[in-house]
Formats: sequence, structure tokens, C-alpha cells
Amino acid sequence: MAADRGQWGSRLGFILAATGSAVGLGNIWRFPYITGENGGGVFVVVYLACVALVGLPIMMAELFIGRTAQLSPVGAVRSMSAPRSPWMGLGWLSVVAAFIILSFYSVVAGWSMHYVGLSIVGAFKDKTPDEIGAMFDALYANGGLNVLWHILFMVLTIAIVVSGIRKGIELWSRILMPALFGLLLVLLIYAMTTDGFTKGFEYIFGFHADKFDLTSSTLDALGQSFFSLSLGMGALVTYGSYLRRDEGVVSISIIVCSLDTAVALLAALILFPILFTAGLDPDQSVGLAFISLPIAFSQMPGGAVLAPLFFLLLTFAALTSAISLLEVATAYFIDERRWSRAKATLVTGGGILILGIPSALAGGPGIFGDKLKTGTESIWDGGKNWFDVLEYFSNNWMLPLGGLGIAMFVSWRVGNAAREQGFKTGTKLGAMYWGWVQLLRYVVPIGVLLVLLNAIGVFSAGE
Ligand code: PFF
Repeated sequence: MAADRGQWGSRLGFILAATGSAVGLGNIWRFPYITGENGGGVFVVVYLACVALVGLPIMMAELFIGRTAQLSPVGAVRSMSAPRSPWMGLGWLSVVAAFIILSFYSVVAGWSMHYVGLSIVGAFKDKTPDEIGAMFDALYANGGLNVLWHILFMVLTIAIVVSGIRKGIELWSRILMPALFGLLLVLLIYAMTTDGFTKGFEYIFGFHADKFDLTSSTLDALGQSFFSLSLGMGALVTYGSYLRRDEGVVSISIIVCSLDTAVALLAALILFPILFTAGLDPDQSVGLAFISLPIAFSQMPGGAVLAPLFFLLLTFAALTSAISLLEVATAYFIDERRWSRAKATLVTGGGILILGIPSALAGGPGIFGDKLKTGTESIWDGGKNWFDVLEYFSNNWMLPLGGLGIAMFVSWRVGNAAREQGFKTGTKLGAMYWGWVQLLRYVVPIGVLLVLLNAIGVFSAGE
């Protein structure tokens, strides 16, 4: 074992770290706006089904691989198949995906840090909705400022990962996750006192299907469940590799999936009532958290205090996810290249920092900005900028492909005896084994293939 690998100090520490990886911008920024775009109610039900039938089995599979091999994805897949096995492509995909996803994720995290600052100095006070919208547009277009926040966020992420599993990732998860749950609770209590709470609640849990589209909304839900649960790119293989060999993975996966889903629902239950109270529309895409919410806070009593808390929540959530992304790339170099943790973290973190600069410049007019045209309309949708292209590529291709690969690897390639014994280690829920294998063998591949077909536009052909 490489000297710099490390191990979790406790089961709780691991649960907090894995939940920290899962709970991120995907839950608090992305889930509410996708729910809004897809009309609320029915979308939430479909999302829950995706988590239970596709996300949960893959999470168990990823943790099972990591804990069994005690290695990060490339080595784990090799040790459970054969040297030079084509399955190792799955491991490589993880490292590449970690670089790509963190490079743009850090830019959005930078926006949330900027908004902590803006809301603390009261920048939204007495501003009209148009002026608040213009503030976001100005930030988006300001390459220099985006680069600065991106660098700052990456430095924070590197500082945590370089300190190791127990003294870095676990320690900070133990601090940031309870803080995150506390902030969530304060904001929820506030949302419950607003006039729009009943309407918001009804919007999320009521059975109405106004904007729900069976193919595209279902596939959005599936893609979102991958991203939100940190699946398909080996983050949980890597985290699982620091578990003791006798630690069960079944109930841990159930806990992490439940917490992640609960946070997404709570984030929606915080945002929608606040938006409805201010008379705003829930269908606001990317600007929901960064434009509509500040508008709502600027008009509400207590908004001046709650706005910084919300953006702090978003920043903490982003940080605990970013460390897991960086850890995937770092662990590869520790395991496979025998680098020290310090060298591996600094080199990978530095590389991601540089790769993220074009994403930070994507809102501006330069070559990485909106002028970037990638041609073929059906896949690239014309004028996507650098940031959009990376986000599209990773969410629609890399994560689903990775998830599909992991499900197939565990259900078809890993031997029956090893798989069954691995599943049943350290759990009282061994009876779920049969169902788990069926989901991995049949339900996951079909679901994921639908996402991929959707990504190449099969379902939108002729629209
Ligand atoms: N799960 C994170 C979120 O919801 O924001 C994003 C993420 C983290 C995706 C780690 C993938 C990953 F490996």
C-alpha cells in the first residue's frame, strides 16, 4: 500500500465525507432549478425513483469496488479484473472526469463565494430586480474576477486535500457538514414562516405535471441523480478505498443517498417558498439561486441576514464536493505513480486550476466565451461556450458512461462469490443482494442507455 494512502478514522467520519461529496452545488443550486424547469411535483417523484433504482445500486457498487480493492479506480479495476483489461478504461475515465468537472465546478463555487461577500455588504439592498440581475451578468462577464475566485476556491480545496484523509478531508467534513445542516435548518425555519410556504410545498409535492415531459424530464432526473450522488466517476470508489475491509457498504449507501436526497428536497423547500413569497416565477434556470433569490431576499424582512447564510451554505456544500473530486485525481498519482500526497495534490490541483481558467473566462467575449461555436447542432447546440461544453460533456456522457461501466463491471465481470461475499460483509441487509444484482444487470443499463440516447438527440429528432 502506498505510504500516503490513509484510512478513515471512523464510520461517522466516512459518512460525513461521502455525504459531503454528494451534497453540493448539484443539490442546492441545480436541483431546485431543474425541478422548476420541469414543473415541480411529478419530476420530484421521478427523481426519487431514479435515486432508488439506479443511483443507490451504483453507489453500493462503487463503494464495494473501492473497499474490496483498497485502491483508487484505475488500480481497483485492474486488481479486480486483469492487468491491461479494457475495463481499466473505467478508471481512466474517472481521472479525466475529475479534472474536467472540478475545473468548471470551482467557477460556480467562486460565484457563491462572491455572493457571500455581496450579501454581507448589503449589495442587494434597495436594488430593483433588474439591477440585481445585472449584477450577476456583470460577474459572469468579468473574467478577471472569476479567475480570482476560482484560484481562491482551488487553493482552499488543495489545502484540505493535501492534509490527507483523516487530517484533511475527514476533519473538514466533520466541521463543514454539521455547519451545513445547521444553516439548512435556519433557512428552512425561515422559509416555513413565509406566506409562500404552502404554495412552495404544494409545488414540490403536489401531483401536477404542467411542464413535465416524459422523455426529457425523466432523463433530466436520471442525469441529475448521477451528478448529485457523485456517481459514475469513481469518487465513491476512491472514498470507499479508505474504508476498513470489514466495513459494510449497504447501509452506508442508503444513509448517504437518503441524506443527499433530503438536502436536495430541503433546498427546494427553502427556495420555492421564498420565491413565491416575493411573487417570482420558479422557472428561472441557472439564475434561480444567483438572481431570483437575491431579488426575493432584497424585499423580505430578515433577508439581509439570511442571504449571506444561504451563500455560505452553498460555498460549504461546494467545498466538500470539490475535495472529493480533487481526491480522485490525487489518489491516482499516489497509488499508481507512488507520488507523495503533497506532490500529487499540488500537481493535480495546479493542473485543474489552469484547466479551469477558460471556464472562468467563459462569460466574456474571448475565444472561450460565447463566441465558441462547436458546429454540429444536435450535439453541441450551436453556440455553447467552453464552460457549457465541459458541463454538457461530463454530465451527459462521462458520468452516465462511468455509471453504466461500473454497473456492468460489478454485475458481469466480478465473480459471483466475491460479489456476494463483498455485499454481505458487515451488513444485516444481505437479503437485498439478489435485488441489487438485478438492478445492476438490467435496470441500470436500460436507464443509462436512455440517457445516452437522449444525449445524442434521438428523442428530440424532428422537434
Ligand atoms: N455531487 C456533487 C454535487 O451534487 O454538487 C457534484 C459531484 C461531486 C459530482 C463529486 C461528481 C463527483 F465525483
